Amino acid sequence: MRLLVCGGAGFIGSTFARLRVLEHGDEVTVYDKLTYAGREENLRELAGTPGFTFVKGAIEDEAAVDAALECSGAEAIVNFAAETHVDRSIAEPDAFVRTHALGTYVLLEAARERGLRYLQVSTDEVYGSIEVGTFTEQSPLAPSSPYSATKAGADLLVASYFHTYGLPTVICRGSNNYGPYQYPEKLIPLMVLNALHGDALPVYGDGMQVRNWIHARDFSRAIGHVLEHGEAGEVYNAGGPDEEANIAVVERIVELTGADRAQIEHVTDRPGHDRRYSLSSEKVRALGWEPEVRFEQGLAETVAWYRENEDWWGPIRSGSYRAYYERQYGRALQG
Ligand code: NAD
Ligand code: DAU
Repeated sequence: MRLLVCGGAGFIGSTFARLRVLEHGDEVTVYDKLTYAGREENLRELAGTPGFTFVKGAIEDEAAVDAALECSGAEAIVNFAAETHVDRSIAEPDAFVRTHALGTYVLLEAARERGLRYLQVSTDEVYGSIEVGTFTEQSPLAPSSPYSATKAGADLLVASYFHTYGLPTVICRGSNNYGPYQYPEKLIPLMVLNALHGDALPVYGDGMQVRNWIHARDFSRAIGHVLEHGEAGEVYNAGGPDEEANIAVVERIVELTGADRAQIEHVTDRPGHDRRYSLSSEKVRALGWEPEVRFEQGLAETVAWYRENEDWWGPIRSGSYRAYYERQYGRALQG
């Protein structure tokens, strides 16, 4: 397939691009605005590979999207492009509204003009929080944060293009991803790097919030599967095989890094913090997908990757990330 992968310089998009070029032989054009979270270094394993192209641009820029589609000859658009950090959406929601609402609209129009297949990458957070049980694709949308509300809005717009114009759209909603190349604002890489540097490990509230962890490679495989086999107009959930409370994740990271348990600090909770996410993936399993990586093994491999890839995270942790950290946590990084 020839694909335009929007947001493909981010954590999951770059994992997907590697998978599709190196293992499926797809022709992939990554189209990405390169926000603080988008980095060409995430695509370093693809540099110079036949069938791979990188184009810098924003999804809300209609002319640039048209040009990228023409050059790539894409048969399908896979849209990962998003602002993705809940804490940033609480502090500064404007980019979330622009990228998720306007950006998704521009991509849908471009797909409609050309009759392209369109896959929207979405999140379990659109369903809100669930104390017991698990969300299915029929669960009502009840997002809690500006991040998840704007992601839900984008999903509804995508669905409307199927119902109104017959555009062959599919939506794939994932649970919490982890793995190599994740920007260290997110729980796991933040805790790993802080643990390795002797910094405090800031656990929000009581740390008993539960997340349903999926390795980014498994989520990328699910997205590819839905792109190839999903039915137009449908939504497919892809949840990981394991659920874990945040405090247990942080304690395991302390063990894996050899850090001091005393580095763990309970800090002020995130406003509107969702207590638990849990996704049923029966529908995508029926298409033949299964997650392959259990959390225990994937977390150990992820910690090892961060240990071995200081050249990747060093420039981030010494750059504007430090100012973000100080604003968000009210204290400077020590290490
Ligand atoms: P990320 O923050 O690592 O990457 C996002 C990428 O999108 C970056 O490369 C950024 O430069 C790019 N981008 C942002 N705004 C853009 C714009 N206006 N135009 C073009 N490019 C833009 O995010 P991620 O964790 O890889 O998430 C990718 C997608 O998967 C998102 O849609 C997210 O909602 C969804 N998702 C993420 C998770 C998770 O746990 N990380 C789980 C489920 C779903
Ligand atoms: O569920 C899918 C979603 O997972 C994606 O759609 C989002 O893009 C992605 O950011 C992620 O959202 P979360 O809010 O669950 O991820 P985050 O890594 O920010 O936080 C995970 C949990 O850890 C959450 O309960 C908040 C908590 N946390 C997070 C940070 C950064 C802490 O306790 N301390 C922290 O410093």
